[in-house]
Amino acid sequence: MLLLLLLATDCVVRAQTGSNFPITNIKEPYLQEVGQFAVKEYNRESKGELKFVKVLNGEEQVVAGYSYKLVLAAENGSVTTNYEAVVWADP
Ligand SMILES: *[C@@H]1O[C@H](CO)[C@@H](O)[C@H](O)[C@H]1NC(C)=O
Repeated sequence: MLLLLLLATDCVVRAQTGSNFPITNIKEPYLQEVGQFAVKEYNRESKGELKFVKVLNGEEQVVAGYSYKLVLAAENGSVTTNYEAVVWADP
């Protein structure tokens, strides 16, 4: 699994494009773990100190493996911010 992107975003609801599918089972533990992983990797690579709260929303895309685009909440110090994370999972 490889995290490519973690961006602060105010945008929780996003337009669906192309072959992206909205994730309907967002509460599934696996998806929450993917979000947690994204925050952990972000912290490791950027020396950040974000604290994962939960995944709010997401899309998945099937192209040479799975990619997940998740909107997640994380605490940055005392501020909770929504971030957009893109995570690729190898087939
Ligand atoms: C966290 O907050 C600090 C201080 O406001 C800011 O400089 C930093 O960019 C924030 N990090 C993220 C990932 O939003």
